[in-house]
Formats: sequence, structure tokens, C-alpha cells
Amino acid sequence: MKKISLTGIKPTGDLHIGNYFGAIKPALELAKEYDARYFIADYHALNTVKDRKELNSTIRQVAAGWLASGLDPEKVIFYRQSSIPEVFELTTMLMAFTAKGLMNRAHAYKAAVQENSEKGDDTDAGINMGLFTYPVLMAADIIIFDSDVVPVGKDQVQHIEMAQDIAQSVNANYGQQVLKIPQAAVQEDSAVIPGLDGRKMSKSYNNVIPLFAPENTLKKTIMRITTNSQSVEEPKDPDTSQIFQLYKLFADDGEQSALASRYRSGGMGWGEAKEELFRVINRRLSPIREKFDAIIADVPSIDKILAEGAQKARPIAAATVKRFRKAAGID
Ligand code: TRP
Repeated sequence: MKKISLTGIKPTGDLHIGNYFGAIKPALELAKEYDARYFIADYHALNTVKDRKELNSTIRQVAAGWLASGLDPEKVIFYRQSSIPEVFELTTMLMAFTAKGLMNRAHAYKAAVQENSEKGDDTDAGINMGLFTYPVLMAADIIIFDSDVVPVGKDQVQHIEMAQDIAQSVNANYGQQVLKIPQAAVQEDSAVIPGLDGRKMSKSYNNVIPLFAPENTLKKTIMRITTNSQSVEEPKDPDTSQIFQLYKLFADDGEQSALASRYRSGGMGWGEAKEELFRVINRRLSPIREKFDAIIADVPSIDKILAEGAQKARPIAAATVKRFRKAAGID
């Protein structure tokens, strides 16, 4: 039997090429080796997104984004967290095994408290119980599907350790393996994708190249990449140019060495380097963009895919809850 991998997707809109190479592509690769599951963490998002229209549309945007990027709902299980009520039943059960002190130590909560105290506010101002108990819900997401492996960025490792802690206290209490202990698969920063200003591409730096923007917006964005003041004639170093770093992600080996020597021999300005970059990015993204546009134009079909995924997921979730209830004497 294949091992199970689980990827949680936070519904945040406007996917960019940093997300694509850093998260989406590696997560989709998992389907080759694992029995892969992917879900949209919409109840997690409710902690921060209180605007109904925004949340409703973002859920479909990310679903369409992953489908356009190659997620095959026939081969994997793809669902919305909110469609699996057993997740919330398990969350309540796990609460009984979660030390409050453990939650006090969670990074996201601690950061919010810290920020409040720096502002001189009441330390709990603006912090809801959803944020405080976020790691328990995340543990339930993972544990309910007997996940073996959870691919996460470094910032999420603590959450996985908490899920292990919580599951272990359940197992220790009943003296049997009621719940499977998940493992984190930490994604090393193998490829930090540079943004328009050369810093890591990130929405919070406002330096992203969007994944699904129309062609003219894509071009305008690429033309905004910051460069130094070297003249057209001057030879340029491809290895220190973020334009070339980005180019490497999209060009084949022959194109890369040809363009690298044009950089080095001088006579090519930054404007032309950006044109070349646009050409290869657009070549790669236009089929994905077309798919995305078609998918997002048909929201009922997206919802149908997610509902079918939930149908596959629920019996698995129900079995875990049943096992736990039995062990706990609530059967
Ligand atoms: N907390 C994760 C993030 O911020 C999203 C997430 C929620 C998740 N539940 C999960 C990730 C379960 C992996 C497994 O990105």
C-alpha cells in the first residue's frame, strides 16, 4: 500500500510564480509516490477572512489554480475542509488531549501577543479562539486521514510537532495506536524564487509575478523588475541578475547558455533581457492561464469536483473518528 501524503492549501488569492515553484509544483509531484490528498483549509481562513465575498471567491480561485496547474482529481483526493464535518468532531476530541500550555507556545499566537504588547495594547486584543486553537484543527486535518507525510515549509514544522504530541498523548492514554503519528516532510529552500526587487518573491513584499494575469499585465510586471544602471554596451553578469535567475526557471539548457553568453559579451540592455524573460515565461504560463480562465468561468464544475472529493474523503474520516470514539468509550 502506498503511503499517504496530505497537503493543506490556505485559500489566499492571486497565486504567483513563487507559489508555483515553491509549493504547487513540488506538492503535485507527491502524487507520483504517494496516495496524495489535497484540501482547501477554508475554516482555517475564516479566522482571518471575515468578508463573505472575498472568502467565497478565494476558495474557487485557489481550487481553479491547483486544477490548472495539473492537479488531477481522478488520481488524488481534492476536497474542502468544510465539507468534512468529522474533522470538527475530531478537533473537539483532540482538544481534550491538548495542553493549553502547548497552544501558548505556538508561533502564530505568540507573535500576535508580542505585537500587541509592543503596541501597548491588551495582549489578547484581536486574537480569536480560532487563532489560538489553530494547531488543534490542523492536527485534526492531518490525523483524520491517517497521513504519513505532510509536506510543509519551515514555518509549519512546529504545527506538525504539535500534531505528533497530541496524537501521542491519545495513544499513550489508551495504550494502543488509535491515531497514526504523522511526519513532516520539510521543503528545503531549494529554489528561492527572486521577486521583482531581487528579494524572495512574496505577497508581503509586493514584488510578485502573478501566475494567471493576462498577457499584457504579465509583460508590464516583468518590465518593472529593478536593474542596475549598466548601459547597453556593458558586459553583464548573468549569475547576479534576478532576471537571469528567473529566466533559468523557464528556459531550456540551450537557451540558458546562449543568453548567458549574450549577457557576458555586452551589447544587450536590461530591456532586452526582460523581453527574453517575458517570452519564456509567457510560453510556459499561457497554457496554464488558458486552463485557469476556462475553469474559473465554470464555478459549478469546480464545486462538483470538490464535492466528489469530499465524498471520497468522508468515509476515511468517519473511520478515524469511529476508532477514536470506540477507544474513548463513546461508542
Ligand atoms: N497551516 C497551513 C499553512 O498556513 C495550512 C494547513 C492547514 C495545513 N491545515 C493543514 C497544511 C494540514 C498541512 C496539513 O500553510
